[in-house]
Amino acid sequence: MMREINASIPFDKRMWRQDIAASKAHAAMLGAQGIVAAEDVAAILDGLDAVAADYERDGPANDLALEDIHMQSEARLVDKIGPAAGRLHTARSRNDQVATDFRLWTRDAIDEVLAALAGLQDALLARAEEHAADVMPGFTHLQSAQPVTLGHHLMAYHAMLARDFSRFTDARARMNECPLGSAALAGTGFPIDREATAAALGFDRPMGNSLDGVSDRDFALDYLTAATQCALHLSRLAEEFVLWASQPFGFVALSDQWSTGSSIMPQKRNPDAAELVRGHAGRIMGCMTALMVTMKGLPLAYSKDMQDDKPPAFEAHDLIGLCLAAMTGMVESATFRTDRMRAVADAGFATATDLADWLVREGGLPFREAHHVTGRVVARAEALGVKLEAMPIEELTAIDARITPAVFDVLSIDASVASRRSFGGTAPERVREAIARARATGDKT
Ligand code: ARG
Repeated sequence: MMREINASIPFDKRMWRQDIAASKAHAAMLGAQGIVAAEDVAAILDGLDAVAADYERDGPANDLALEDIHMQSEARLVDKIGPAAGRLHTARSRNDQVATDFRLWTRDAIDEVLAALAGLQDALLARAEEHAADVMPGFTHLQSAQPVTLGHHLMAYHAMLARDFSRFTDARARMNECPLGSAALAGTGFPIDREATAAALGFDRPMGNSLDGVSDRDFALDYLTAATQCALHLSRLAEEFVLWASQPFGFVALSDQWSTGSSIMPQKRNPDAAELVRGHAGRIMGCMTALMVTMKGLPLAYSKDMQDDKPPAFEAHDLIGLCLAAMTGMVESATFRTDRMRAVADAGFATATDLADWLVREGGLPFREAHHVTGRVVARAEALGVKLEAMPIEELTAIDARITPAVFDVLSIDASVASRRSFGGTAPERVREAIARARATGDKT
């Protein structure tokens, strides 16, 4: 069983492209520095291209005897070019090799996530624009609180995703230093050129400490923490879709494409994709926790525990990719039941705050007293079974003589929403401004 516990090839074969790229950069540098003869370097570079072509066609083999993708690539290189292949590993260790490959993979992973995130942000912007003025109930404690617009609500998610975008971007910038040349842990006596390999692989610079170079996995943790927070946002949106798609809410009809029928209850359309986005968020958080726990007790420099860094990063990446694609599809294809949203917003005395504010503004009452008067008005409206805007004026003046018919201007949900014109507020014009701002910054902030 030693092979089974020791091998990482079943999962690290996924990094074959990065492994070939890093080996080519290393080989070219060895040639340029005169550490390996030019004809051997030429053979190595051609051989690596041939190995890559084989991988491209058939994928790496699941050969446990060779432990990992690094050893498999080297063994294949020997098959292609013979003994010169043995010169590739000069001034290198699998410790700096795996650190380099995994960084390259994580950087690519971030680029994929950033593209998917921008796609979801675009979808939210388009739907928010469509519904910039459509009124829905805004909730606190999941109780009808004040009317907002659906566009405003969707733009709140856009704002969360903008922070995710910036977290992934930060992580990418921070991780873009190259560990190659750290060798096993202490650096090497060969006259290598770390600036050259770093530049060839698109890194900003070589890492400054070889021990840190082989033992740091912060880049993967940065990726996983950013993915966790992003997944958490997607999970909240997914939860709202689940809730909104339920019959008592009826705020959204999910498209057939992003829901499923029940096998025995023909009337049902289940929000499976949204539920799985919510569920996957827990698994992504688990991946983050797994790597943190793996790393927390490790002395410098490399320990084999660190081989366990890749499965959680790979799993989280696959899951966040699915979640972003599914959420984008759901947002794009959902039918928002704005008539139903409006009816619910209209039914919950959601403009009570507007009445209180009016009493402060027009009646000169202190807010606490206005709040108290409004409470009595709401209780009376509830007893009469009417909306605030349908209350007879005599009923209102009986509660407080300072109320005049002008109050009706603020009691409708449209008037309420239109009045929330403070910066960042829900007035349709402010929502449209927020959309324009988001477009101007290219979705990212
Ligand atoms: N398979 C190993 C990993 O993924 C490669 C590094 C091995 N280094 C070593 N000193 N055994 O981490």
